[in-house]
Formats: sequence, structure tokens, C-alpha cells
Amino acid sequence: MADQASRLRNLVDSKIDELSTRIIAVTSGKGGVGKTNLALNLAIGIQKAGHKVLLIDADIGMANVNLLMGNVTKHSLVELMNYRTRVEDVAEDSEYGIKYISGIAGVDKMLDASHEHLRAIQRKIVDAAELVDVIVIDTGAGLNRYVIDFILFAREILLVTTSEPAAIADAYAVVKACTEYGSKGKFKLIVNRVKDSDEWKETAERLNQTTQKFLNLYVEPLGYVYEDDAVADAVKKQEPFFVRDPDSPASRCVKELVSSLLTGMKMRDVSKGWRNILKSFFK
Ligand SMILES: Nc1ncnc2c1ncn2[C@@H]1O[C@H](COP(=O)(O)OP(=O)(O)O)[C@@H](O)[C@H]1O
Ligand SMILES: [Mg+2]
Repeated sequence: MADQASRLRNLVDSKIDELSTRIIAVTSGKGGVGKTNLALNLAIGIQKAGHKVLLIDADIGMANVNLLMGNVTKHSLVELMNYRTRVEDVAEDSEYGIKYISGIAGVDKMLDASHEHLRAIQRKIVDAAELVDVIVIDTGAGLNRYVIDFILFAREILLVTTSEPAAIADAYAVVKACTEYGSKGKFKLIVNRVKDSDEWKETAERLNQTTQKFLNLYVEPLGYVYEDDAVADAVKKQEPFFVRDPDSPASRCVKELVSSLLTGMKMRDVSKGWRNILKSFFK
């Protein structure tokens, strides 16, 4: 059994290496740091920049990408465990241009999924990958095997943290686990909910002090997203903040993150704008 699982992994791995499609996992150690919001809004940003995007909700048990879009889904990732079902059968269109695969249904079934099942799902994703330019995967938080499996599947890993020490420590634990499992992915750090760009730099430095000391690994700081009421407001209204309030500080950060992801250039600093500086002053 184990042999077959590793054969499948090798097969999936070598296929991924040949793809022109980018596979980007969005993950974190600690829960609630903003993964789903970032995965969704970055996906929409990348689509708006002219690329075809498939967003996959692989957060087993806490799947909620569709909730953030206000969509009722008909299909889910779990259906890919059926022998005949293809990615094209479960990917749904959204009003924001991106396609998505929901993760909400069949939680119990998914929890029974073996590594082989997961690999079979991943193989189908790889087979369909070239239908789009970019695949964004919202993984769960932490170190369970579903999370690790989907991280290992990606070649780019957006590691999301806040500046809280506990979140940084948990982010380190994810990097460590992925390294131990032989991840080929390149880590890029996004610090969410910062009050200023210094907080981003300090957080990236703190994480890298540890990863460099113990793992001899440098996590590229990709950028940051401001703490911004527009995010929670959009969550309540079930509309992505990047669409609902494109001029909000968080949306402008997402825009810069997208352009950094697409061009490989450093994220440009984002000003909060006078409206928001005044708002936080009077708070
Ligand atoms: N930049 C931000 N500014 C303000 N609140 C945020 C921000 N990012 C996330 N949040 C809040 O955190 C909550 C959890 O975000 P979510 O994306 O669901 O996290 P995760 O997927 O990591 O569990 C959101 O509902 C929102 O209220
Ligand atoms: Mg989430």
C-alpha cells in the first residue's frame, strides 16, 4: 500500500514539474490569520490581471470560500474521490471570473480519505491544471496530513501569519514540517493585519532568524496586508473585499501582492490613505 502511495506521489510530482500552470498554496500554522480571505482575494486579483484562475478550497472541515462569495455550491472537492468524476465536473463559475472548487460537503467522507485518495484527487487536478494559468489552494491551518499533503503538492507556498508571537511560532512549525516532508515548494511570507510596514519587516525578520538558525532556510518576505475594517465588513456582506471596496487599504495591499507575485518584483509600499489615517486617529 505504502509503495503504491509513493508511486502515485512520484507520478504526480513529475507531472507537476512539467506544468506551466502555477500552483500556489495559501497556508498558515495558526488558524484565523486570514488565509481564506487572502486566497480568495488574491485569486480574484490575479484573474483581474488577465490570468485564468482556479481556486480550490482544501480546508477540510472549515471550508468557507463559497461563504465569502455568498455562493451556494452544488459540488465539492470530495466528489473527486469518485473514480469517474473530473475537475471539470466539480469546478464552478463565480461572478468574479474565477472558477472554484468548494470544500464544504462530505467532511466525514474526506476524513476517511487515505493518502491514495488524496493523491488521486491531486492527480486529477494536475491532469486538468492546464485549463487555467494559476491554481490557488486554500489549505487548512496547522499540521494535519491534509494540510501537509496539499502544501507538498504546491510549488509556491504563501505562508500567512500575523505579527503575534504565537502565530509566528506556528508558521515556523509549518515550515519545519514541510521541510521534513521534502517539500519542493518555495515559501513566501505574507504578514496580515499589520498596522504599518515596519511590523511586516520585523515579523519577517523574526521568522527568518529561526528558520535560518534551525533549518538553514530563508522565507522570502512577499508582503503585507493592513488591518482593515473593510475585510470584516466584506466577510459579513459575503462579498470579497477586493471587489466590494477596491480602494480600501487591504485591497490596495492585495493589488500590490498580486503584482509582486506576477512580476517577481518587490511589493511596493502601500499608503493607508488619509481617510483611513483619520479613521484610526479618531477610533
Ligand atoms: N486584514 C484584515 N483586517 C481585519 N480583519 C481581518 C483581516 N484579515 C482577516 N481578518 C478577520 O479575520 C477573520 C478570519 O479570516 P479568514 O480568512 O477566515 O482566516 P483563516 O482562513 O486563516 O481561518 C475574518 O473573518 C476577518 O474578520
Ligand atoms: Mg480559512
